[in-house]
Amino acid sequence: MNQSVDTERQAGSAAEQDRVLIFDTTLRDGEQSPGATMTLSEKIEIALLLDEMGVDIIEAGFPIASEGDFEAVQNIAQLVKDATVCGLARSAFKDIDRAAEALRPARRPRIHTFISTSPLHMKYKLQMDPEEVIEAIEASVSRARNYTDDVQWSPEDGTRTEHDFLCRAVETAIKAGATTINIPDTVGYTVPNESARIIRMLKERVPDIDKVVIATHCHNDLGMAVANALAAVEAGARQIECTINGLGERAGNAALEEVVMAMRVRNDVLPFRTRIDTTRLVQASRLVSTATGFPVQYNKAIVGKNAFAHESGIHQDGMLKHAGTYEIMRPEDVGLTDSNLVLGKHSGRHALRAKLEELGFELGDNQLKDVFVRFKALADRKKEIYDEDLLALMADASTSAAHDRIQVRFLRVICGTEAPQSADLILSVDGEEHRVTASGDGPVDATFNAIKEIFPHEARLLLYQVHAVTEGTDAQATVSVRMEEDGKMVTGQASDTDTVVASAKAYVNALNKLLVRREKTKPGEGLGTAV
Ligand code: KIV
Ligand code: ZN
Repeated sequence: MNQSVDTERQAGSAAEQDRVLIFDTTLRDGEQSPGATMTLSEKIEIALLLDEMGVDIIEAGFPIASEGDFEAVQNIAQLVKDATVCGLARSAFKDIDRAAEALRPARRPRIHTFISTSPLHMKYKLQMDPEEVIEAIEASVSRARNYTDDVQWSPEDGTRTEHDFLCRAVETAIKAGATTINIPDTVGYTVPNESARIIRMLKERVPDIDKVVIATHCHNDLGMAVANALAAVEAGARQIECTINGLGERAGNAALEEVVMAMRVRNDVLPFRTRIDTTRLVQASRLVSTATGFPVQYNKAIVGKNAFAHESGIHQDGMLKHAGTYEIMRPEDVGLTDSNLVLGKHSGRHALRAKLEELGFELGDNQLKDVFVRFKALADRKKEIYDEDLLALMADASTSAAHDRIQVRFLRVICGTEAPQSADLILSVDGEEHRVTASGDGPVDATFNAIKEIFPHEARLLLYQVHAVTEGTDAQATVSVRMEEDGKMVTGQASDTDTVVASAKAYVNALNKLLVRREKTKPGEGLGTAV
């Protein structure tokens, strides 16, 4: 797998001095966010979009962590065309060897190895003394360099590391062959001027630091991840590690869409360039939100539903006179189009294909056939179909598949002021149909009880959430459920004009994901037995 690193892409040449590499870690740090587990096909879809939109490096997973992570990194390495594909590894040789194995099919493989360097982490987490840590850095980076010329090294908890030791650790990594040095603010503790000071200090004190790319990886515990990342860039960092929607451990990471748009909109004071096609930002945000079941907050910068909405009369008046009065960027620059009334009951297959292409979906004939059937069913129940309806429909098509082991066949609920509410449900489990009637505290509870009666399981329901896709009483509802089994979480999602049907399908979607996970970790064992 030894191949030379594309120096143009490493921001080394003079012409590239103002270029900032975008390293997306949605599929690694983002997925570490509790409940944000994604399936292999969701990860592949996200990776391909990141590649298309110009992300320079995609951190696709942590191959030693699980079979699922290994498989994701391997598949993404195979399919991604342009971006460097990166796998994470601790300093242990078995981690590095596993990452290298997963990355073997990649055109541009990168191994990212890390070890903690702060006094607190070394003493309590690693139980290693500083000399042992220095030895581990030397050994791990050298080991990774045997596999690829593109090796990134990170001192975990870097911003809480003593400066003398940080310099020594970084120097050791560079001498051992690291080509990118990433400084993580692991616990989201730093502030912008300190973030900048650390980068400047390293540039002044560490020999050969100018031969490597310096990266910044900021967590958002104090809400300063984006500000800290941009401050690091102003001080000389040339790679930002970030995630779509700011997903990530605890309060998340710096949001990709925010750092990219900040450098674009305020290029007068942040004179840096990225390769990102910003018109794909909203699409990426929606895709990640759908895959993880994490809704995007309405007032989220750049991609939130209200980011370009103007409610007050004064603002609306200003906007009508000149958009620049209250908008610092154009909605179309981030890929937001007006919510057009698009299609209806009489729209044909060609119109649907054209509209889906406009929304960024390229479908093969068979896929289109399937989506068209769903579209017609929706149009029968809902007169006006908007962009958002089609996006929900596409999300639904990608989460529910004909080969799912459990499928909802029929549901009728009785609800109202008189208890008990009940659900009459038919589920198909491995091709066999089962029918039960169950009661509960409301129609959703009755439906979930019915599912559990047909398919007993120990998974716990952690979250149940409903969103209206568009306005109006005939709007589709998107339901997300999060479930936990053996400490692992999955999110199921589904949309329907009937909220209870969407709830049943979302619950079943989560169960199917648990079945896939169970199949991988304990082959041959089901999740339970159908009655
Ligand atoms: O936050 C962190 O320290 C990390 C490292 C693995 C880079 O995610
Ligand atoms: Zn992190």
